[in-house]
Amino acid sequence: MKMEHDVLHDRVSAVEVKRWRDDFPALREKVHGRRLVYLDNGATTQKPQAVIDAETEYYSHYNANVHRAVHALSERATEAYEAARRKVQRFLNAAESEEIVFVRGTTEAINLVAQSHARPRLEPGDEIVISAMEHHSNIVPWQMVCAQTAAVLKVVPINDAGELELEAYERLVGPRTRLVAITHVSNALGSIVPVAHIIKVAHEREVPVLLDGAQAVSHLPVDVRALDCDFYAFSGHKIFGPTGIGVLYGKRRLLEAMPPYQGGGDMIRSVTFEETQYNEIPYKFEAGTPNIAGVVGLGAALDYVQGIGLDAIAAHEGDLLNHATQEVTAVPGLRIIGTAKEKASILSFTLEGVHPHDIGTILDHQGVAIRAGHHCAMPVMQRYGISGTARASFALYNTRGNVDALVAGLHKVRELFPR
Ligand code: ALA
Repeated sequence: MKMEHDVLHDRVSAVEVKRWRDDFPALREKVHGRRLVYLDNGATTQKPQAVIDAETEYYSHYNANVHRAVHALSERATEAYEAARRKVQRFLNAAESEEIVFVRGTTEAINLVAQSHARPRLEPGDEIVISAMEHHSNIVPWQMVCAQTAAVLKVVPINDAGELELEAYERLVGPRTRLVAITHVSNALGSIVPVAHIIKVAHEREVPVLLDGAQAVSHLPVDVRALDCDFYAFSGHKIFGPTGIGVLYGKRRLLEAMPPYQGGGDMIRSVTFEETQYNEIPYKFEAGTPNIAGVVGLGAALDYVQGIGLDAIAAHEGDLLNHATQEVTAVPGLRIIGTAKEKASILSFTLEGVHPHDIGTILDHQGVAIRAGHHCAMPVMQRYGISGTARASFALYNTRGNVDALVAGLHKVRELFPR
């Protein structure tokens, strides 16, 4: 039975969520004549007006290149760009803003670490440890670097619930392991990985750890110093910021020891035809004109999220996930893929006798946007012996009403595809 304070909490949070929703203009869109129910946040999040305004403001009032000119607009642009770097530093609780490198997204961050940190160190037979629930962006860069160096990829298995098999992990990290690269939250299953333990075990063996935070940062507070992780990667667009901008956090000592990833302007101190001196971190990893508007927008997105607070977001999303998990059990033939004890707000499922794309298309006609397919995690699908799932992924602006629309849509799918 519901206690009175629960009811009060629900009512207060519904008002609060309505206020958050009003910040996102795209949520007012209609799709196939219905108000959009956007449940594809794992793929990308909608943008609050504050982020849209920050980019417009940059292009309207201080569009100029950074770090290059003496004129006023360039100084303003540079100040905004570096202020955003300090926001990211505070957001991750990094020790120094120089440990924050702007990249295109999580994918580029991981490729940078693979090519610039791992590749020069790897000898034939050395090992990189990843897990069976990685996104392709945390698999393929390691396969590429293994092919380049004759290193070997080791994969930590997962159990049926979608949890890492920790004993297997502890056995896999051995004397030849040079790096552990693991997701913080699985995009396909929603599992939250016990990363503190992963890092502790790796560090006992003096192995650095990279965390793929793409699916974590908009759902959980992240403190890179408390975790003591060596690299942390995330994408702006999955935390209400622009596309094409992301972050690589790396410990100063590691970043300083890494050669540049790309050559060009801004990453140099001096150039002659005989020799080039590289710039210091983080600039030696930011060759060429960066995505200045994206950085400014990302800074606004982090301000927005911190204004609400990740604890409040996690509590709200936890409620949505519980509600959804309970309600979908009434849909005949529905199987949830990913039932880890610790989960972020991702609900992946199959419906007996219905292809995930058909589920996605029928839901779309009811205004409900989800993702269907392998979610760029084909090995996860192989692990469960399926070709794909339908995936609803919730964000701070989703409501219990949105969950109910999803469930009603699934009953409709079942009607159209009787068992
Ligand atoms: N990696 C994104 C997802 O999970 C695109 O949907």
